[in-house]
Amino acid sequence: MTTRIIATGASVPEQIITNDDIAKVVETSDEWITQRTGIKQRHISAGENTSHFAIETAKKLIERANVNPEDIELIIVASVTPDYGTPSLGCMVQKAIGASKAVAFDITAACSGFMFALSVADKYIQTGVYSNAIVIGAETLSKIVDWSDRTTCVLFGDGAGGAYVEKSEKEGIIKEEIGSKGEIYEILTQGYTPCANAFNDNESGVDPLWYVNMNGREVFKFATKSVVKSIDRVMENAGVTQEDIKYIVPHQANIRIVDVISNKLKIPKEKFYMNMDRFGNTSSASVPMALNELNEKGLIERGDKIILTGFGGGMTWGTMLITW
Ligand code: ACO
Repeated sequence: MTTRIIATGASVPEQIITNDDIAKVVETSDEWITQRTGIKQRHISAGENTSHFAIETAKKLIERANVNPEDIELIIVASVTPDYGTPSLGCMVQKAIGASKAVAFDITAACSGFMFALSVADKYIQTGVYSNAIVIGAETLSKIVDWSDRTTCVLFGDGAGGAYVEKSEKEGIIKEEIGSKGEIYEILTQGYTPCANAFNDNESGVDPLWYVNMNGREVFKFATKSVVKSIDRVMENAGVTQEDIKYIVPHQANIRIVDVISNKLKIPKEKFYMNMDRFGNTSSASVPMALNELNEKGLIERGDKIILTGFGGGMTWGTMLITW
């Protein structure tokens, strides 16, 4: 018995912001952004919040999987940009689709969020607690970047992606691992909220550390090291070689990170599915958005072996080998 992906879906804002558009806001250029990141454009919210994209994705999943919302048992949304502190995006999705019997909650593991959420859903299904789940990564990163900081604002985009999974007798998730390295959490932070209250002298208001703060070079090093080791381990534990793998769907942060991973693992770059040129880095939405595109384009067939892999703040990583 495995957990199997039955349907995928995604939703992005209509508004497209090109590198030239960003060059009107901060001192940068299409050439710099393209060469250093591989990103050409990203979709940026015109005001819709994260729940909008999560809900649109959930509706597509229900339609494509042809399931009754009343039969959904579990909803997990991964996000660092929820609409509220509470309720969770999961509960907002539950209400919008009418999944009244489901249990719903959110997970935060930054750009590895979808991998963590899928791993948790898999455990609930493997242990027989639930038999199906909607798993979504959803973000509006445009609301948490400092639009005067060119070192970060050029990198991100908004959107959501997800999968409907269920218990199956066929092959699905074969091997997976998630991991954390909290000792270096300072290299990528966001959302710091100072403790201000009526009984101390702390000033309230938005702290500069509320925005995305990143040591790009350290994140680059962490990403390449952790993803290479993780893919290697998962393939070894599953007893497969790169020849068995049709596609690797990596977190869409930076094309140069994928270049390094491809070189180190000696896996041809063509096997890495990339769409960061059109969507930028959408954090927890990036892997499911790319997987959905791969699926919608008909580039994968049932029986193909695929690796999903992500890394992100925490620092965290997650890799999963699945049979499509
Ligand atoms: N436009 C023009 N110039 C810029 C820009 C910009 N947008 N941003 C930085 N620069 C300048 C810098 O000021 C610096 O100038 P200097 O040499 O005069 O000091 C120069 O470009 C080089 O800056 P670096 O930071 O060294 O550039 P680097 O080649 O490391 O690229 C980047 C930066 C793209 C962030 C890279 O470090 C990276 O990709 N790191 C990985 C982190 C990542 O992908 N994060 C994504 C979010 S986190 C996540 O997904 C988990």
